[in-house]
Amino acid sequence: MNALNRKDLLDIKSLSKDEILLICKTAKYFKDVFTRDVKTVPVLRGKTVCTLFYEPSTRTRLSFELAAKMLSANTINVPVTTSSVVKGESLIDTVRTLEAMKADYIVMRHAASLAPHFLSKNIDASVINGGDGFHAHPTQALLDTYSILEKRETLAGLHIGIIGDIKHSRVARSDLIAFQKLGAKVTLCGPPTLLPDEFKQYGVDMTYNLDELLPELDVVNMLRIQRERQKGSLFPSIREYNLLYALTEERFSKCKSDVIIMHPGPMNRGIEIDDAVADHPNSIINEQVTNGVAVRMAVFYLLAGGAPFQDEEGDISK
Ligand code: CP
Repeated sequence: MNALNRKDLLDIKSLSKDEILLICKTAKYFKDVFTRDVKTVPVLRGKTVCTLFYEPSTRTRLSFELAAKMLSANTINVPVTTSSVVKGESLIDTVRTLEAMKADYIVMRHAASLAPHFLSKNIDASVINGGDGFHAHPTQALLDTYSILEKRETLAGLHIGIIGDIKHSRVARSDLIAFQKLGAKVTLCGPPTLLPDEFKQYGVDMTYNLDELLPELDVVNMLRIQRERQKGSLFPSIREYNLLYALTEERFSKCKSDVIIMHPGPMNRGIEIDDAVADHPNSIINEQVTNGVAVRMAVFYLLAGGAPFQDEEGDISK
């Protein structure tokens, strides 16, 4: 099969610690490829990668497309809003069409949790989950893990806070699993209405008090308020949310001096994070985007049957 022993990448839960580290180590190699003058390698020559995004995306879709192009794949994007989906074509018929066009890899984002799992059962192509409902965003968790490893070598012993709209966040659900597998302590923080009890099942700490938590953290991962997913008002006002849960310049001054600031994007500047913090030298938000390309190249490479690299020099997988 391949080094990950799977046809698809659907979630983070089913990846072992060693598999997560293998992807990160492979991403390190591809980051070197990505940042050199000649960026193209022939890993996916003759293969077709299709991006099928039923929800908006900037970073995820573009980075998958760029990763596929740098691996020499043919790429096609199904523009859902102008495709036959708007004429009522079902997911399964859209998939049959892609199958008829001999797509080898399908990267899918969908508002329904487990939609990529349904797709994977109905097609021979490899399916990569680009985010499904509230459920999972595995490549975001992988790139977030890789981005921390670049700065700290290991996640073991780190205290990582995930802050904001936890309830609606597939990033939070995938990140906390990946971070815990690699030995980090994870604390979730947000208003009670956005931090439901269901998260206790993950064995994380939970708090509603950001000011008490921040000085303890090695990594602060801020999340966006997902107003498009909220039914009714889950907090009194944006102003009140900002007062209690935004990473303001003043709150940032209470953090450890070497704290790492992260955000998966898109950011609501001035709502969950101040400009001065987002653009501070401790912020790795732009680096996360660059690393997203390298991690997605690594995922394609390993799913395509690429062998793990043997070079131990600069090994990130500790
Ligand atoms: N982080 C992330 O998933 O961003 P996009 O919605 O722009 O893909």
